[in-house]
Parts: sequence; structure tokens; C-alpha cells
Amino acid sequence: MKSNMNTKIFLDSGDPNVTRELLDRKIKLDGQTTNPSLVASNPKAKLLKKGQKLTSRDLINFYKEIVQEIDEILPGKPISVEVYADLKTKANEMVEQGVNMSHWARNVHIKVPANLEGLKAARELVSMGIKVNITLVFSLEQAYGVALVTKHAKRGDVFISPFVGRLDDKGLDGVDLVLKIKKLYQINQISNVLILASSIRNLQVFNFFLNQKMDLITAPKDIIADYFLKNQNFEPEKNFLQSRIALKKFDLDHLKVSNSLENLNLENQFLIDGITKFTNDWNNLL
Ligand code: E4P
Repeated sequence: MKSNMNTKIFLDSGDPNVTRELLDRKIKLDGQTTNPSLVASNPKAKLLKKGQKLTSRDLINFYKEIVQEIDEILPGKPISVEVYADLKTKANEMVEQGVNMSHWARNVHIKVPANLEGLKAARELVSMGIKVNITLVFSLEQAYGVALVTKHAKRGDVFISPFVGRLDDKGLDGVDLVLKIKKLYQINQISNVLILASSIRNLQVFNFFLNQKMDLITAPKDIIADYFLKNQNFEPEKNFLQSRIALKKFDLDHLKVSNSLENLNLENQFLIDGITKFTNDWNNLL
């Protein structure tokens, strides 16, 4: 079976049955990412909701069971678990949730959003030795903020999740953002943060990142299955590759590198929409 030794492949799903299904098909997974929308779309969540009102505690327990089941299927592999954070959630509330969730499985990365409060929470979690995955990243400023708050973390303890597909959905260039983050980290000698290419919508982009030897990539079941089962000799189209390589001439001038988190422009509409979608999907189950 084809495998790229450089890039670790995670499944992007809130359903342990999907994890099991891929393993049954002899596909090797290196970990899993979850988020509130993925957990809310787990078929069992809908059944649970039918006929009864779920409390926040029920829902958290449901999430915990899912994570524990994934941990049994992928023993000790990294599982990303996301805190509940709306636009008003403070860092200390995220830290409290993160500390609790970090005990759910053997190798949990706590996902916090890349807004100011989320980055403060990440700083605190990392200082407590808790692994993090800083999510909803759509800009270089956010990526720089991630590096600032995690500079004392061990390599591998911090993931950053740039959301490729959500930028592409709006006609922007998600792949470009990931390449620029990679370059930004190289220029600033930031090696402890692993880049986790997220929100992957198609095999072409998936393959592109494998060819770029990204640290990590997460993708839904169908893309991973296609990659392993149907497209073992798939190479990204030449044109696609060439256009991306042309982007190697980076222009980072607009990023005013700052040593203060408060001076960075972390907010953007994608981040706000992302937080809103996660919380709406979650709250719809309550
Ligand atoms: C993974 O960690 C992300 O939450 C996920 O890839 C987002 O994907 P989406 O944009 O398809 O929701």
C-alpha cells in the first residue's frame, strides 16, 4: 500500500465507525481530528437527540465517549479534541475545558480557535504540558500568533490547522496560505509547530501536500480512501503543481512581525464564521 513517510495522515471525522471502516480496508491512519460540527453530524448524535433534550453535560459525555472509542481504535495516536468556544468565550474557560478533555485519551491535542482568547488559552495549556492544535487559521498573522504563544513547546506538541477548503470555497487560495505559513516558519526558524493542512476538499490538494512533504494532513474518509485504494499512482496535474511552485516567491512584507500578541491582527471574517458555525452546530443538539 502506498504511503508517504514524510506526512502523517489523520482522518477528519467525529465518527469512530468511519475510523474502523478505513482500518478494516487496510488503510493506515496516523491520528484523527474532530470538531464540534463533525461530532454533531455523528449519526448517533441525531439518534440521541430524537425525542429528548440533551444537556451540555450529556453532549460533552457523548463527545468523550467518541474520543475514547477512537483511542481504542487508534491506540495512543494523536486525537484532536475541540473546546466549546463562542465569540465571547474567555481564555480561562477554554483552559478549564482543555485540561478536562486532555484526560479523555492517551494523546489528546486540545483544539482552540486562533483568536486572541484562544491563543492565550494555548499559551497556558502549553505551559501546563498539554498538547494543542490551534484551529481556524486563515491568515499569516494568526500563524505568527500561534508561534509566539507556543515558542517554548516541544516539537510535535503544537499543531496549527490552516483551513484550506474554506478559503478555496470563497475563491481565495488556501494552498497558498499553507505554503506561506511554511515559509514564514522557516524564515523565523520556528520548528516546534507542526503544520496540519486541514479542510481538504479534494484529492488533488491532498496529493499536492503529500508531495510538498507537509508535516501533517487531515482529510475526510472518501479522500483518504481514494488516495489509498484508487489512485496509488496519482500525481498532481503538472499545471497545478507549477502554479503552486511559482508561489515560492513570497511576499511577507505586509506582515509586521511583532512580539506582542495584542498587536497582531488576528480577527478575520472566516474565523468569526468558523466559530459561529461550530457553536451553532453544537447548540442545535441541545
Ligand atoms: C479539522 O481539524 C478541521 O476542523 C476540518 O478539517 C474542517 O473542515 P471543513 O472546512 O470541511 O469543515
